Amino acid sequence: MSTRIARTTLTALALACIATLGHAQQGKLKVGLMLPFSGTYAALGVAIENGFKLRIEEQGGKLGGREIEFVKVDDESDPAKATDNVNKLIKRDNVDVIIGTVHSGVAMAMAKAAKESGTVLIVPNAGADAVTGPMCAQNIFRSSFSNWQPAYAMGEVAGKDGKKKAMTITWKYAAGDESVAGFKEGFEKAGGKVEKQLTVPFPNVEFQALLTEIAAAKPDVVYAFFAGGGAVKFVKDYAAAGLNKTIPLVGPGFLTDGTLEAQGAAAQGMQTTLHYADGLNTPRDTAFRTAYAKSFKLQPDVYAVQGYDAAQMLAVGLSAVKGDISKKAEFASAIEKAKIDSPRGAFTMNKAHNPVQDIYLRKVEGNENKVVNIAVKNLADPARGCKL
Ligand code: PHB
Repeated sequence: MSTRIARTTLTALALACIATLGHAQQGKLKVGLMLPFSGTYAALGVAIENGFKLRIEEQGGKLGGREIEFVKVDDESDPAKATDNVNKLIKRDNVDVIIGTVHSGVAMAMAKAAKESGTVLIVPNAGADAVTGPMCAQNIFRSSFSNWQPAYAMGEVAGKDGKKKAMTITWKYAAGDESVAGFKEGFEKAGGKVEKQLTVPFPNVEFQALLTEIAAAKPDVVYAFFAGGGAVKFVKDYAAAGLNKTIPLVGPGFLTDGTLEAQGAAAQGMQTTLHYADGLNTPRDTAFRTAYAKSFKLQPDVYAVQGYDAAQMLAVGLSAVKGDISKKAEFASAIEKAKIDSPRGAFTMNKAHNPVQDIYLRKVEGNENKVVNIAVKNLADPARGCKL
């Protein structure tokens, strides 16, 4: 055999080996689910996991041709433990992709770690403006919303409704602060004024002193950001104090999503804004709701939709790279160009990888957040500070 032929044969052999190795390396796709499975946001974490897994089942248990293996971490919605928790997934478990989380403070620590390590991160709830603002990155995506989006829409709605004086109340952390800022921006643009901003530490639910303050100040409207267990308690306390009879309580839809059975009469008639609603009655949403109810014996809520769409986004990226998630640029570009066929209505991504989506005005009727109309069509987060 001449040297030349030998060299060619060797090169071919080497290439074949690399190709086989590539295949072997593909194996199962390791998905790290970092969500709250305890504490005030526990139900939200479960709904996200359910939605995510439902979409994977619908795809035959595979994404981009790869079977999925899950590693789960309960982040307890605790920012102090967030860096350690996310590093367990990245460094110990060597996951290919991280899905998480609900709490904005935890999500910011996750985004920092994902940006440093290059691990793909899809945020299925936490609205932290920074994640798709100054912290934006090629490998970071969000299937949910920015805190600014539903808040800004509610401000506009309340202002156009003729409300002049507002008070706000929230947990004191990034999501609450940003939600109030978004509301203030929309409300003041529409001619209103936010006169006082009240806060309680996360995840406290001692509201009495602040409710007394609201009763004394008599604003035209109260805007509140709470979610999960805290939202149940706040809406019930507001009604128990008799305030719902005289001062409308509004908020982003988290205040009444996944919580209505527990809130009962206290929530009736409340108006909120969100990127999802009951009664959309589109074939896409009906199919999703029927499948979700069948699998989990529960009605889906916004969190379930966000989990479901995180799996849809991951599927788009992975099928573009045929399961090879190391092809970061192609993976990102496929999601950037996609129209995600969400139960909420189809959405696209802004440059920072946050959904551009309709924000619905909803009204509580029985156990439903019934759609009233579209408050703001195709609302894109401004992605302030994102350099991509
Ligand atoms: C957040 O921390 O960003 C957050 C938590 C719960 C929600 C919405 C936003 O329902």
